[in-house]
Amino acid sequence: MKPKQRNAKKIIHRKPNFQIPQDIEKYWLGGSVFKTHFLNSFTLIFPIGERYFIRSINCMLKKINDPILLTEAQSFIKQEAQHAIEHGRFMNILKNQGLEFEGSLKYVEFLIEKILAPMNGEALNLAVTSGLEHMTALLAEISLSENFLKEAPSSIRDLYNWHAAEEIEHRAVAFDILSECHPHFALRVAGLFYAYVLLSGLTAFFTAKLIVEDGKIFDKVIWTDFFDTFIFKEKLLFKAAGIFVNYLSPDFHPLNEKIDHLGKSIFKQQNNFASSL
Ligand SMILES: [Fe+2]
Ligand SMILES: [Fe+2]
Repeated sequence: MKPKQRNAKKIIHRKPNFQIPQDIEKYWLGGSVFKTHFLNSFTLIFPIGERYFIRSINCMLKKINDPILLTEAQSFIKQEAQHAIEHGRFMNILKNQGLEFEGSLKYVEFLIEKILAPMNGEALNLAVTSGLEHMTALLAEISLSENFLKEAPSSIRDLYNWHAAEEIEHRAVAFDILSECHPHFALRVAGLFYAYVLLSGLTAFFTAKLIVEDGKIFDKVIWTDFFDTFIFKEKLLFKAAGIFVNYLSPDFHPLNEKIDHLGKSIFKQQNNFASSL
């Protein structure tokens, strides 16, 4: 389990300024309650996750010997911080729509920051971060290749697609730090399963919570959309499982997944960002 030898990968800190209208339609993803709240749940949990990633990587900086990897780690931190800012801005719009989630988010933040992270320790936090980065890159790959947000308003689509593209761009950073500082295959695998439980549990919880609060949990169309998204039409479950298991191969490296073109095509479309490399 070695970091991949490579030239410096340009990981750019972009500062977009997405103008999502305050009066955006409540069910902004093609009118689908399920799909909208599924995507909203990511906006709620990403900033907590990103603060966790930043802390996990930040405490490794002084232990990274490879100067290229160190530069990438610093850029990774800047990108994740920007993701938290942009999703935080969208979260404020969701709050203004009357969605209730602040109390639950505080509990989740407390659980992660005050209980799980200190209990895990540095090595496991890094392995979980690497596992979560595999899962965000997986979601980014599926979302961009399937154009999952095609029915979303362009401002929201730009936000999610930009985030997806940057997840693809920095997908190897946490993995390479783990490989350099704690190169244990069992730890890497444990981190992935921990990450899976955390991300799928929180996504399911917040999606269900938002749907329940809308009083729509027993609507047939919610369940039709759910099964179509995961099993029958978009087949998210099968696509995600296929990519998920790649991580379990001892030879796996994120940069072996040839998905850079997906991110690059988004950056090309969104070429109006100020950059502060
Ligand atoms: Fe992110
Ligand atoms: Fe990331």
